Amino acid sequence: MSIRQLTTLLKRRNTILLLLCLVAFYLIWFQLAGLRILEGSDGHHSDQWEERVSKELQALRLQASQMREQLTRLGSDPAHWRHADLATIYVVTATHAVPTQKADLVRLMNTLSHVPNLHWLLVEDAAHKTDLVRNLLRRSGLVYTHLNVPTPPEYKLKPTDPRWKKPRGVLQRNAGISWLRENLEIVDANGVVYFADDDNTYSLELFAEMRDLQSVGVWPVGLVGGVMVERPQVTGGRVTGWLTHWRSDRAFATDMAGFAVNVRLFLNHPTALFSLESQRGFLETDLLTQMGVTLDDLEVKADQCTKVLVWHTQTLKADLKIEKQLAKEGKAPSNAGIEV
Ligand code: UGA
Ligand code: MN
Repeated sequence: MSIRQLTTLLKRRNTILLLLCLVAFYLIWFQLAGLRILEGSDGHHSDQWEERVSKELQALRLQASQMREQLTRLGSDPAHWRHADLATIYVVTATHAVPTQKADLVRLMNTLSHVPNLHWLLVEDAAHKTDLVRNLLRRSGLVYTHLNVPTPPEYKLKPTDPRWKKPRGVLQRNAGISWLRENLEIVDANGVVYFADDDNTYSLELFAEMRDLQSVGVWPVGLVGGVMVERPQVTGGRVTGWLTHWRSDRAFATDMAGFAVNVRLFLNHPTALFSLESQRGFLETDLLTQMGVTLDDLEVKADQCTKVLVWHTQTLKADLKIEKQLAKEGKAPSNAGIEV
């Protein structure tokens, strides 16, 4: 091969290489630009994007859960068939970052996984969603919606405050209610809404009791208000008052765990919400009053309100004094790199 032929060949090869590089560069740039559109300027997924994906995922999860129901019917013992036409139970849970948060959420998640046609609206009391909650929900296999809204500092409990001093979980439950109102295309209008604290103990029978509510269902709550049980007073199958030690004169003297509401009530009363300004112990009464509920509307559950199916258990504040000491001594925390 002559020098001239060689130079022409090299030139041609270089030109081809250059062209290939340009194409590759263009393709990579195009991909990155696409990603940048999906992400916010700080490199994080934008809220809009996250919301869109979350909605799509939600719809897919609902479909998947319906398909699972159908498969269960086909493959299992008929005695365990679930009815695809069960009303959906929307469990709204406020949660906040404390050392015991994950333990509480895992326990609640395990309970909820046994309940068919359930949609968990888990709302973080935080300015941003956390990976801890995000990962827990992703692994849960449940139908869920992950939301967040921070409680303003002036309404937050200080570490030394007694827990009754400020209402807890108010804006978070409201975020759940608003989500239901804003997502009518996927919300089951026959569904039922239940406000479940992350640290209570729930029997599976409770969910069966609330499933078919048409208005507001009520039942006893164990270990609350300083007594073994608080419960509605039932006479002739109707609620006639409240058997509580504290303020039984409230219109609805029930703990949050003692009632569930048909979704339609929230749709028919589009402004009804929990209030940060409610007097201590009046969150529940104030909400139900806004929806025009009367004692006559209450559906008596749990065997005429004689059975306890939910307990207002409260998680002990974690004792971390050694952890604090380690920090003082400049030593690594016991959980360095480990999610607890
Ligand atoms: C009792 C009732 O069971 C609650 O439903 C009610 O909100 C509360 O009283 C009240 O009066 O506000 P209690 O066990 O004392 O509940 O409250 P927590 O369990 O400490 O809080 C209720 C829910 O709000 C929990 O799911 C908790 O994780 C959440 N929370 C608590 C927040 O989202 N942010 C907080 O700063 C504190
Ligand atoms: Mn609690």
